[in-house]
Amino acid sequence: MSKEIIVSGIRPTGNLHLGNYLGAVNNFIKMQYEHNCYFFIADYHSLTTHPNPIDLHKNVRQVLVEYLACGLDPEACTLYIQSDLPQVAELYMMLNMHAYMGELERVASFKEKARTQPNNVNAGLLTYPVLMAADIIIHKATKVPVGKDQEQHLEMARTFGNRFNRIYEKEIFPEPFAFNYGKELVKIPGLQGGGKMSKSDGDGNVINLNDSPEVIRKKISRAVTDLGPTEPNTPPTTPVQNLLDLMAIVSGNEKVSHYANLYANCSIRYGDMKKDLAEDLVNYLTPIREKIAAIDGDENLLKRVVQIGKEKANISAQATLIECREAIGFRGF
Ligand code: ADP
Ligand code: TRP
Repeated sequence: MSKEIIVSGIRPTGNLHLGNYLGAVNNFIKMQYEHNCYFFIADYHSLTTHPNPIDLHKNVRQVLVEYLACGLDPEACTLYIQSDLPQVAELYMMLNMHAYMGELERVASFKEKARTQPNNVNAGLLTYPVLMAADIIIHKATKVPVGKDQEQHLEMARTFGNRFNRIYEKEIFPEPFAFNYGKELVKIPGLQGGGKMSKSDGDGNVINLNDSPEVIRKKISRAVTDLGPTEPNTPPTTPVQNLLDLMAIVSGNEKVSHYANLYANCSIRYGDMKKDLAEDLVNYLTPIREKIAAIDGDENLLKRVVQIGKEKANISAQATLIECREAIGFRGF
């Protein structure tokens, strides 16, 4: 297999949760030894929500620690903080000149935000896909591991890259496409009976990678189920299926069959199932939680990682930016 250039980032909004890990970071880890990977912490993107400086720094640090604890290897991939690449901001500005209000206003994530937070519809929110395009094409990425929710943004990255190539008559940017390891994209369910595990639905909906065993037990004990099966052999309701899906990941299929059978013959006791699931989650996450704790105290390691990442990412970004400046006509004297 030929090497792809891979770029992906996560916005630092707090701790990583099991969904982030299984849907994104776990894939990064597999890719880092096979491809040319750039993984970053998207702190510029965070600014759309006006975080206070202390929280912003704390959250960036936390994601960095957790990326490392999950197994991102700064020797194998380029692991960096987005704001350590000012070239991204410059490319974003260039791309903005050819990004049109109409196309930006039609983006689903923008429309959703404009609806849900009408008193903070800022230009950064409108041009979020332009910044994301800059992140991706600055390294000339060909593949981008992201969830389904990011597909429209990725399509815009192709649009903006192609447009730049066409306008300035230079083949600078290849087209980036979505990528995931293995088969379909995984979707880890949340604990509140509904959709995916997401921090936007509150802390009770997610299992964070560094939740203590007590917190995990409490969250699972409060996870939504139903009133119990009344007819034998009916398929589990969504909330119960969600817990079985989590169980399939951390406990294995044998346990899932056990509880699915109990459900089918109406003798399931959710308290037992939850206790079992909670203990397996605790065991599954303990090695990561312990690594988080170990890395968290290692200030020198963090400093070194950030510095190496910054240097490596700068080389790639700078090379692209020189081409862009030249193409645009910033040619110096
Ligand atoms: P959240 O929904 O908690 O705000 P983000 O949108 O910041 O999470 O997601 C960061 C990354 O983690 C993305 O690549 C996304 O696809 C992945 N991800 C988040 N939640 C899940 C989930 N429940 N299942 C699978 N992948 C997820
Ligand atoms: N928009 C992505 C998210 O919300 C984060 C992100 C920013 C990103 N820039 C990126 C992902 C570039 C992949 C590539 O999850």
